Amino acid sequence: MIGKLNHVAIAVPDLDAAVRTYRDVLGAQVSAPVAQPAHGVTVVFVLLENTKVELLHPLGEKSPIQGFLDKNPSGGIHHVCYEVADILAARDKLKASGARVLGDGEPKIGAHDKPVLFLHPKDFNGTLVELEQA
Ligand code: CO
Repeated sequence: MIGKLNHVAIAVPDLDAAVRTYRDVLGAQVSAPVAQPAHGVTVVFVLLENTKVELLHPLGEKSPIQGFLDKNPSGGIHHVCYEVADILAARDKLKASGARVLGDGEPKIGAHDKPVLFLHPKDFNGTLVELEQA
């Protein structure tokens, strides 16, 4: 059911420092910071040959990643995003298997303007999973 790894999202406490690490130390191509107020984050895209890493930094007072950074002050992997061809079919199959879909279970338009859902980390080895309809 899942297809390509769309991205790995890493929450970072200091976006400039994270950019320097990825650009200058690891030698990766990084985007300029992109503010996504609707999602409560500023994102820098690290462009790799086969996928992306997204560096997430809180934006605004109710950022969904602030609590994560409070618990993980040095930052950490926040979620992985897998592509699916049909997000509603994927959701229904997952629910039938007993997996918990976060929120009201209806896909939302995600940070890439495509429908996404998040799955409960306790059902996926402690990892928050995002599904994105590719
Ligand atoms: Co994501």
